[in-house]
Amino acid sequence: MRSFVLLFLASILAVAMAGTACGNQGLLGASRPKKFVGECNRSDSKGKRSSHNCVNAGGTKYLCVLSGQATCIEGSAKMKKLDMEGGECFL
Ligand SMILES: *[C@@H]1O[C@H](CO)[C@@H](O)[C@H](O)[C@H]1NC(C)=O
Repeated sequence: MRSFVLLFLASILAVAMAGTACGNQGLLGASRPKKFVGECNRSDSKGKRSSHNCVNAGGTKYLCVLSGQATCIEGSAKMKKLDMEGGECFL
């Protein structure tokens, strides 16, 4: 499981150079009972932002849906580097 997550993050990094468009359909927990993915907690949501704007707004976590798979990215340095859009920002 852990190696899968790392592999997945590596594949995100590979396409991150031109900026990555996340396929988030809505906010976490808005249409489903699920309130969190990993450390991304609905209670801490700052709404949809680009990962850069999220960091500027004080966010430290970012939820990005790619190919139907939601991943919670942690850490402002990683979020800046990944340069994502359309994802959800969390404190
Ligand atoms: C999410 O945050 C709420 C409010 O702080 C807390 O009650 C809940 O336990 C948290 N959930 C997880 C999975 O951390």
